[in-house]
Amino acid sequence: MSYIKLHDKTFNTYLSEEEIQQKVKGIADQLNLDYKDRRPLFVAILNGSFMFAADLFKYLTVDAEISFIKLASYKGMKASGNVITAIGLEMDLFDRDVVILEDIVDTGKTLHQFLPKLDHQQPKSLKIAALLHKPEATQYQLKIDYLGFSIPNKFVVGYGLDFDGLGRNYKEIYQLAAGS
Ligand code: XMP
Ligand code: MG
Repeated sequence: MSYIKLHDKTFNTYLSEEEIQQKVKGIADQLNLDYKDRRPLFVAILNGSFMFAADLFKYLTVDAEISFIKLASYKGMKASGNVITAIGLEMDLFDRDVVILEDIVDTGKTLHQFLPKLDHQQPKSLKIAALLHKPEATQYQLKIDYLGFSIPNKFVVGYGLDFDGLGRNYKEIYQLAAGS
């Protein structure tokens, strides 16, 4: 097994480039069927999803648009916790077939908070495509319409995902090594 070191931590290979590409192509194949003649609008959530979004988009053969947004979380005045706003969402979602692209769904909190904001614009449909999901970490129920891999509740990096800024450049996905 091959490993990488990022900052002071060691990570082992978990998903190979081939496994990831095969899965991303599989999701694209399904989207090509489901969105035939519908001109979907993909909304990719930065930073983590940039590689997943780029690869997925290359496998699409339907007419499709893509927009990249960043989510900013800040403490609201209410005790209910953080408020999430989208930076860079310039597209009008009204009456569009929208597909959110996310690198990983962990507790589900991010999308759970953010989806109502998109829904507010009254898209014709709103679906989620996520490369990774940690079912054991779920705190907020979400329906992931297109999923790559269900993974254990361990920290992962690579293929766009980072540990404190590093690791996004790898073609594989790595898992935090035991005892690291
Ligand atoms: P929630 O809990 O809101 O989390 O579903 C989603 C966001 O948390 C980050 N995240 C990770 N990033 N390795 C990472 O590099 C991980 O294992 C991991 N788990 C969660 C990620 O930004 C995701 O969008
Ligand atoms: Mg992310």
